[in-house]
Formats: sequence, structure tokens, C-alpha cells
Amino acid sequence: MTYQIKNICCIGAGYVGGPTMAVIANYCPNIQVNVVDIDPVRIKNWNSKDLSRLPVYEKGLKEIIRKCRDINLHFSIDINKHISKADMIFISVNTPIKIKGFGAGQASDLKWVESSARQISKFAKGKTIVVEKSTLPVKTASLIKQILEIDNTNEENKVFHVLSNPEFLAEGTAINDLQNPDRVLIGGSDKEAIKALVNIYTNWVPSTKILTTDLWSSELSKLIANAFLAQRISSINSISALCEMTGADVKDVSSAIGMDKRIGQFFLNPGPGFGGSCFKKDILNLVYICNHYGLKEVAQYWEKVIEINHWQQKRISKIFVEKLFGTITEKRIAIFGFAFKANTNDTRESPSISICKDLLEEGARISIYDPKVTRKQIGINLNMLESRSLSNESNGSWTFSKSTHEAAENADAILVLTEWEEFKDLDFKNISKIMRKPSWIFDTRSIINVEEAKLYGINVWNLGKGN
Ligand code: UDX
Ligand code: UDX
Repeated sequence: MTYQIKNICCIGAGYVGGPTMAVIANYCPNIQVNVVDIDPVRIKNWNSKDLSRLPVYEKGLKEIIRKCRDINLHFSIDINKHISKADMIFISVNTPIKIKGFGAGQASDLKWVESSARQISKFAKGKTIVVEKSTLPVKTASLIKQILEIDNTNEENKVFHVLSNPEFLAEGTAINDLQNPDRVLIGGSDKEAIKALVNIYTNWVPSTKILTTDLWSSELSKLIANAFLAQRISSINSISALCEMTGADVKDVSSAIGMDKRIGQFFLNPGPGFGGSCFKKDILNLVYICNHYGLKEVAQYWEKVIEINHWQQKRISKIFVEKLFGTITEKRIAIFGFAFKANTNDTRESPSISICKDLLEEGARISIYDPKVTRKQIGINLNMLESRSLSNESNGSWTFSKSTHEAAENADAILVLTEWEEFKDLDFKNISKIMRKPSWIFDTRSIINVEEAKLYGINVWNLGKGN
């Protein structure tokens, strides 16, 4: 049976669903793409005339939205209607870690995947290809299949095929990653369904980069790709501590080892630990699956990657306090960067959250500046109201700053936590004048101009650099 895909529906208008569908719409003008979501505010923002209100900030996204929206790319809350019109449905809902019940703290909560599958089962018509886009535990496709087969309407001719098509985009470079992927992975068993999805991607991706596998290999590959990437970060972060002790420089070490083709140069930047919605969740999932199959040693091995990540964050908070004479109570600290990495407004699992919480617990008064993260988001993440001013609080408190200059005013120390471009050439001449003495800058991303900071009398601590 040959599939003609003319109408796509994507359930979930988040960081993955939104940009992915925008790129498909851009390259496939003959396909109508409807992105649906249960969150009306999100959909309203996707439809906003003011493109600065789009729920996701990604370079190149606005241009595609401007070109395709209301032509062949639509955002809607009318989920059932768009399911019933679609030939192909992507499931792109979030799958957070379960907070209670069996597998709490490790297993993914699949309730939204399940409810999406139930809706598809009920409202889809005719032949429909269902594509798992969300990162899911291995064998979720079989759960989706079982649900799809519960036919609520007794309508004849309903046929479903399930494919796995994990997304490897990284936030901040999502559009470029989608336009020029290293590979596209499609897992499934029905050849025609696979062909239909391959045909969509060949509109812009060379066919040599499109890999087809069975369902389980595809699902597992996504978890393993993220686990390997996170493992590299924990490896280099563990070495950053050793470099500080021995007098080596972790940047030199990472350049030296990265020039070995077998190791490769990417993902060797030391930092305050990995954040983002995927790495921790996917490794916890891997650990859960390994334990489930009785592979205790394998589970423990991967668990260590998360442990080192947590340890690195605690280690930074501790060094910070020690360098500031062992106490930061009532000291003013400027935090540069709250997003989990540069070029995104996403703060999920950001190391800045746990480090700021540590400093607040020590009684610090922190002022936070991030070019993209909102005041409201920071309040939610810190689970603490913003104080109106930093001047008369004796317990830990935080305020939002609109610039590096505002945050650094009267600060005892600056802590750089996200590698935003603008932190690369800070005006230390000016900053040194407005900070309290002795002034410190702690750079966890190795991006500041150290010589310049020192020139203006600012003490510098660089992650992974021994004295
Ligand atoms: C994605 C993947 O889907 C997830 O599995 C992966 O591990 C992380 O990235 P992401 O797009 O980043 O998730 O999540 P999010 O930005 O939270 O978007 C998910 C969207 O799905 C939300 O807008 C939410 O409102 C929507 N949703 C959720 C539905 O439309 N229906 C539901 O039943 C549940
Ligand atoms: C990741 C994967 O890269 C992507 O393929 C997958 O689809 C989703 O998860 P993302 O979370 O958007 O993407 O960001 P990524 O660039 O991988 O960074 C994750 C975290 O690792 C960030 O906190 C980043 O600062 C940190 N990191 C990354 C380092 O500390 N050092 C590095 O060398 C690279």
C-alpha cells in the first residue's frame, strides 16, 4: 500500500514539535502541517503576530514562521479535528520522569503519550502512520500499538502503523540541526510506512543520511546517543577537578585529546554540568531499563554519569564560598547566565538553578542576568519570590537584572554559568569600577577574557585551571 502524505498533525507544540514541524512545512509546501497542543496559551503565542512572543527562541525559526504560518503550517488547540484529517501523526508530547509510583525518580511518565494514543485511536480515520518523536523508553511503540488497536468507533478501514523517528536536535541550533542533520533515524516494520516518512525527509536530507532500523533499535539509539554525550561531559568535568589540583589546564587537555580522531573534538567543554530536558532523564531511563532486566552493573555504570554531574555543581558552589573567605552571607553575587546553555531561553535542569539555590541557602544576595530567560521563569525555578531590592534582606534573596552592568553593581563576585556570546568581551574597565573590592569573577565556562579582568584588578577563578 503506498501512502500519499498530504496532511500531518503533530501533538505537542514544544521545543521539539514546534521547530521540527516548521522545518517540515518549509521543505514540503504540498503538505499541510497542523501542530496541536492542549495548552491554549502556547498555541496563542505560536500564532502571535509579534514574533518575539513565539514560545521557543531558535535562530532562523521566526523566518520560517513568517513564511509558512497560515499557508501550510498551522497551530491549533483543536486536537481531535486535526487528528481525524491527518495521514501522519507525530507524537511530540513531553515525557517527564515519574514523581511517584513504580519507577518514581527514574522511569518516564508516559501518561501523555498514552492519552495521545487514545485520542488518535478514537479520532483517526482510514490509514494513519503514527510517529514517535518524543524520546521514549524502549518498547513504548508496542504500548502505542496496543492502544491504537482499541477501536472506539468500530469504524472499518482503520489501519495504523507505528514508526520511531527520534529527534537529535539540540536547543539553540535546532533549525540548523533539522536542516542539516548528521542522520535521520527511522525505525519500524512496515516498509511502505517507512518509505512515506523517508520521502518527506528526502525533500532536503540526502538519502545516504537516512538510516532505517527496527523499532527497538531506533528507540534505544536515541537514549544511547544522549547517554554517550552526557558521559563525555561528566568525563571531562571529572578531569577539570584533577587539573585544578595538579596545575594542569583542562582546556589544553581537552584540545590535546580531542585532536585524536578516535576521541574527536566535540562535547569536551568542561562546565558547571549538563542541563537540559534530555540528558538526565534519558540516563535515568537507561538505568531503569538496565535494572529491570537485571543488569545491575550496567545500571550502576551509567548512574555514575549523573552522580558526577551533581557533584560538579556542588563542587563549584563550595569553591565559590571558600574563595570568598568561607562565607557569602549578605554578600552580593552577580549571576551571569541562567539558561542551561547559550542561545536558548530553556532552563530545564539548568545547573544555574541548583548553584543559585546553594548560594541562597548560604545567605547570599544574588542578582541574576540572562539575555533570554524571564524574571518569571527564574522565580518559578528558584521557587522563591523576587525581593524588590537587594539592600535590606538578611536572608538569601534574589533580584532580576536587565544587564551585566546592573547585575555587577556593588557585587563582591560574578559567577558566569552560561556561555552567552556577550560574556566573552565584558567591559572589565567599567565593571571593576562598580564592583566591591576585593572583586572576583568565577568563570565556569572558560569564556571570559582573563587577562583583561586581571588587568583591572579583578581576581579570577577558572574552572579546570590549576595555579
Ligand atoms: C521533547 C520530547 O517530546 C521529549 O520526549 C524529550 O525528551 C524532550 O523534548 P519538548 O518538546 O522539549 O519535549 O517538551 P515541551 O516543550 O514540554 O513540549 C511538549 C508539549 O506537549 C507541551 O506544549 C504540552 O502542552 C504538550 N502536550 C502535553 C500536549 O499537547 N498534550 C498532552 O497530552 C501533553
Ligand atoms: C541534547 C542532545 O545534544 C540532542 O541531540 C538531543 O536531541 C537533546 O539533548 P540539548 O539538551 O539541547 O541537546 O543540548 P546540548 O547542546 O547537548 O547540551 C546539553 C548540556 O550539556 C548543556 O547544559 C551544555 O551546556 C552541556 N555541555 C555540552 C557541556 O557542558 N559541555 C559540552 O562540551 C557540551
